[in-house]
Amino acid sequence: MSRIAEPESAAADPLLAELRRTEYARLDAAGHVYLDYTGAGLYARSQLDEHMALLHDRVFGNPHSVNPTSSAMTELVEHAREELLAFFRASPDEYVAVFTPNATGALRVVGEAYPFQPGDRFLLTFDNHNSVNGIREFARARGAETTYVPSTPPDLRVDETILPRYLTEVGGDHHNLFAYPAQSNFSGVQHPLDWIERAQAAGWDVLLDAAAFVPTNRLDLSRWHPDFVCLSVYKMCGWPTGVGALIARRDALAKLERPWFSGGTIVAAFVQREWYQWAPGAAHFEDGTVNFLNLPAVEIGLRYLDRVGMERIHAHVQTNVEQLLRVLSSLRHSDGSPAATVYGPPGVEQRGATVAFNFLHPDGSIIDERYVERVARRHSISLRTGCFCNPGAGEVVFTISRETLVGGEFGEGMTLDDYVQAIGLPSGGAVRASLGIATNGSDIERFASFATEFVDLVGVPRDLPPRTGC
Ligand SMILES: Cc1ncc(COP(=O)(O)O)c(C=O)c1O
Repeated sequence: MSRIAEPESAAADPLLAELRRTEYARLDAAGHVYLDYTGAGLYARSQLDEHMALLHDRVFGNPHSVNPTSSAMTELVEHAREELLAFFRASPDEYVAVFTPNATGALRVVGEAYPFQPGDRFLLTFDNHNSVNGIREFARARGAETTYVPSTPPDLRVDETILPRYLTEVGGDHHNLFAYPAQSNFSGVQHPLDWIERAQAAGWDVLLDAAAFVPTNRLDLSRWHPDFVCLSVYKMCGWPTGVGALIARRDALAKLERPWFSGGTIVAAFVQREWYQWAPGAAHFEDGTVNFLNLPAVEIGLRYLDRVGMERIHAHVQTNVEQLLRVLSSLRHSDGSPAATVYGPPGVEQRGATVAFNFLHPDGSIIDERYVERVARRHSISLRTGCFCNPGAGEVVFTISRETLVGGEFGEGMTLDDYVQAIGLPSGGAVRASLGIATNGSDIERFASFATEFVDLVGVPRDLPPRTGC
């Protein structure tokens, strides 16, 4: 009996096939199947060459000064800022681009400076990265109330009929912040961008976490107008790491109240009088020296993506994710029972190229994700296991009730394995495969062959390592 459908060979995009051979040759040279693009994108070789040539040939100083090498750097930093806005079609009259160390850094700027007060609200979806969940601690410290909007299994979308109930729960003269991901880093679900207008009309400032969306989707800020957008550049174009951005509407940015000042963020500060004056614009939010030598690589990377074409990249990953979903949904044990279960949408409508799943034993129980990692390593496949810093999606997928969590005995010094046991989880989480610009049909075929290792698998070895990260 055939246990798995061969991935259908969809016509590969010739340009992307060529780029895989040239720009991403290192993947095949080392035999890697890279399926962790939601973790980090991959850079094209030419991006590095262009960036390194610039650093080889030019002399750059710290941009906080006016000497020749400093001004040369400042010019490139400001150019990178303009290019970032242009990439997202964000009008500089409406938006400001603030450079941060990563998406988390952008979220922190918003969280710590949003003027939460008692009576204010912080609304967010269950489906959120921990760097968004963490904003609730700023809200709590300032007396604002946090509310979560649940996702509904099996698709893990938000029930559109209940959303208005949450959106209308705003206090009149209060600050209200609504945060959600344009694409889930857990399930790949794409939450509707028209929530932005709906929430704003109901009195919310909207924080759109675009980190998992923008690597393979066009975010058009001339069409959508969220108050705050966060992203990490390395997830989009692989290089540079250490650079993220907060793209914020000028009026929204003006609402933020930073709790401190630092080098780079002020026009002047005194010691004998405790006075300081904020620097205008993005500088107000960029603490210390920005990652200046890496910033020209942002422009190089974005130009590269533009040359390939975001719409083309999007279509390419959609074709490949369809194949991957086919592989998983057709994987069967000899008795005909499913050998894998996918969490989230089964098709490609309103979903990105991130797939969360578990392999199943013939009795339907989940195959330990640590064993899956071990087998993946043997196949030189890089994927991810755990909850991917998105505990809310995990709580829905593994039907962990509020009562279980509220009643659970948790304490200092517990390990992740202790939590898995205390909550009664069937495993340490899901497996995640995420696709990107350099994925090709051969990666999916090798994934399919790896997947057959779990067909008819009854037990797993006992010597699996302790779990280390969620
Ligand atoms: C949706 C989403 N938001 C935020 C983040 C945090 O990104 P970073 O670790 O680069 O700050 C991630 C990282 O995976 C993510 O997927």
